[in-house]
Amino acid sequence: MSSDPHRPTDLSEMLAAGTKEVHEKAENTEFVKDFLRGRIRKELFKLGHVALYFTYSAMEEEMERNKDHPDLAALYFPHELHRRDALARDLQYFYGEDWQDQVRVSPATQRYVERIQQIGRDQPALLVAHAYTRYMGDLSGGQVLRKVAQRAMKLPPTGEGLNFYQFDGIHSAKAFKQLYRSRMNELELDSHTKQKIVEEAVLAFQFNMEIFGELEEVGKTLQDDDLDAAPVHGAHGEMQG
Ligand code: HEM
Repeated sequence: MSSDPHRPTDLSEMLAAGTKEVHEKAENTEFVKDFLRGRIRKELFKLGHVALYFTYSAMEEEMERNKDHPDLAALYFPHELHRRDALARDLQYFYGEDWQDQVRVSPATQRYVERIQQIGRDQPALLVAHAYTRYMGDLSGGQVLRKVAQRAMKLPPTGEGLNFYQFDGIHSAKAFKQLYRSRMNELELDSHTKQKIVEEAVLAFQFNMEIFGELEEVGKTLQDDDLDAAPVHGAHGEMQG
């Protein structure tokens, strides 16, 4: 019953509209706001990377397993997008050679991972929502976060510890996002499935926010002098670009 002529039917537009509110919520979590202000505790940044490592490992494993599925094949860009190896390199930089023995899955990360694995098995079309939420975000706000993190934690300009934000296979984030949107729109999906994907994307944002909440709690247990640097000035200006 799509009687509303203003209601978008392109999946990319449905996703943008359907996650607008939850995107604003995510941007306004304390963890994210602190991050944008350059108030980044290295310990929390590292734990955030650990959460991302487990999340992307699950997501990319399920994408790999379902790469020939007709609802996903057009969105399979392992060379351009996949982040697992970049995250592994960052974790090795932060924790050392034996990083794998030092990191653990947090409860909120575990719930996110289990959801990804479950839909990878039972409803692979919904993986579109998870890929959209993370990769499109990384190609958007992620580029701001890279600069803020590098300055705040005084990481080397050569990019160690920041591989996650660096997409070597993508020359123009803007052009790639356009390609990705058109690929999403070309998927042959009925309106019910598209609606399910939008709902799943909202859920994906919520999983991310639960991880931010966990990090905020850990932050409360850290001393103030764990703050690695003074707030970065000028970070906001860069968001315009
Ligand atoms: C899009 C900024 C947090 C997921 C965008 C865009 C900006 C942005 C400027 C628009 C890009 C464009 O129009 O092409 C930020 C900032 C954040 C933040 C500053 C806070 C640090 C997040 C989080 C997620 C996320 C936490 C999810 C985990 C997305 C997605 C899009 C997006 C999926 C694509 C929207 C679309 O065009 O359909 N973000 N974001 N963002 N962001 Fe964020």
